Amino acid sequence: MTRQVLKWISLFAALALAGLVVSNAAMLGLNYASLETANKTAPKPAIEAASVEDWSGRKAALRQAFEEHVYGPWPDGLAVARVSRRLVDADYAGGRGRLEEIVIRVGRGDGARRFHLGLAVPEGEGPFPVIIGQTFAPNCYVFASPGLTASDGDPCESTQVPFIFRYIFGEYIARAPVRSFFERGFAYASFHASQFVPDARGRAAPVLDGLRPEGGEAPRGTLSAWAYGYSAVIDALARENWLDEKRIAVFGHSRHGKAALVAAAQDKRIQAVISHQSGFGGAALSRSRTGETVARITSNYPHWFDPAYGRSGLGPDALPVDQHQLLALIAPRALFLGNARRDVWSDPNSTYRAAEAASPVWELFGAGGLEQNGMADWQPDARLAYWLRSGGHGTDQRDIDAILEFLDAHFAGRQAVACRELETASMDDENC
Ligand code: GCU
Repeated sequence: MTRQVLKWISLFAALALAGLVVSNAAMLGLNYASLETANKTAPKPAIEAASVEDWSGRKAALRQAFEEHVYGPWPDGLAVARVSRRLVDADYAGGRGRLEEIVIRVGRGDGARRFHLGLAVPEGEGPFPVIIGQTFAPNCYVFASPGLTASDGDPCESTQVPFIFRYIFGEYIARAPVRSFFERGFAYASFHASQFVPDARGRAAPVLDGLRPEGGEAPRGTLSAWAYGYSAVIDALARENWLDEKRIAVFGHSRHGKAALVAAAQDKRIQAVISHQSGFGGAALSRSRTGETVARITSNYPHWFDPAYGRSGLGPDALPVDQHQLLALIAPRALFLGNARRDVWSDPNSTYRAAEAASPVWELFGAGGLEQNGMADWQPDARLAYWLRSGGHGTDQRDIDAILEFLDAHFAGRQAVACRELETASMDDENC
């Protein structure tokens, strides 16, 4: 487990260092994202959709285009099984709920992967909505419980997130605010994405190869596989009687915010998405010239994507899709896009423009869309909500408060955000 801690520390250190080396300091937070959006080019290609039916008819081809040009295959139908389950703490969070651990297996045979899911369920009758997170951090830190298993299979040795990470990246960079979730009546589940598929150039490829669904293609990038991890968790929790299956949210920060978007675009069981500071390959536009850029992300993290992403030699302008279309695939479900003014690397400006360009698809569904007046406004009741705070990359109390406001607005009072409950007669399940 000490090894685990060290690995985790070195991951963050490497991340910070790599960021410093490959970027200029301004992008890392010595600069502010522009709040001007009207003077920038509109996202391309324009979204064409005359009606819900028209849009529904286009969705399969659009998903296919994202698989071909950005993320690689979605391993549809890849087997998921629950291997074991144990009660870790019946009096978790000061007796406000229970903590369990479920081992989930994804795939079959030699290529199958296992990961541990921490699951915190509040006291009471339910059914409860659930937020499913995936993180950089082993579950020991996320749930701050020594009874869980570390990612190397040993018992947790430490549950305290080192001060330096909390100082730089915020109090909730690793630990989840489970008490606050419980107070709102949400269950929380989380897994360490690298335990499922390693976040490492050399080691990811053979693992991805092993995740081939019967008659289908194996993922070629970790984002697609990590996204499938969310779906695997939903499979593993389905039909549990504490769970309200119409109120399933996914949460991810940064690279995991990218994975959360991919998961929701592919899996219609996800009814709300919290994608925080997802940046390039997430909610930021691939054609944007500010922030990380496609050239940098594909050279530093080639294992996240399909090898085709940004490799045409013509740059991102040649891509047949851009990320506003990925957001549109999530409509009319609830989508939160978190940003910070100094997190220029993740490009808050193009993220806002992507949301603006996707918003008409929410409107088609009669679901409202982006209802705010510019990047600095905040409308948690809107189904497509853009959040911008001061400061840099990370997850702090202000982000958590905004996320809770958003989830309260969309999941409160047992009002599922299920598409079929929206005010439009023409919707069927396929539209969700
Ligand atoms: C790097 C990377 C980003 C990513 C981030 C993270 O900074 O360049 O694209 O979002 O790591 O996952 O923290």
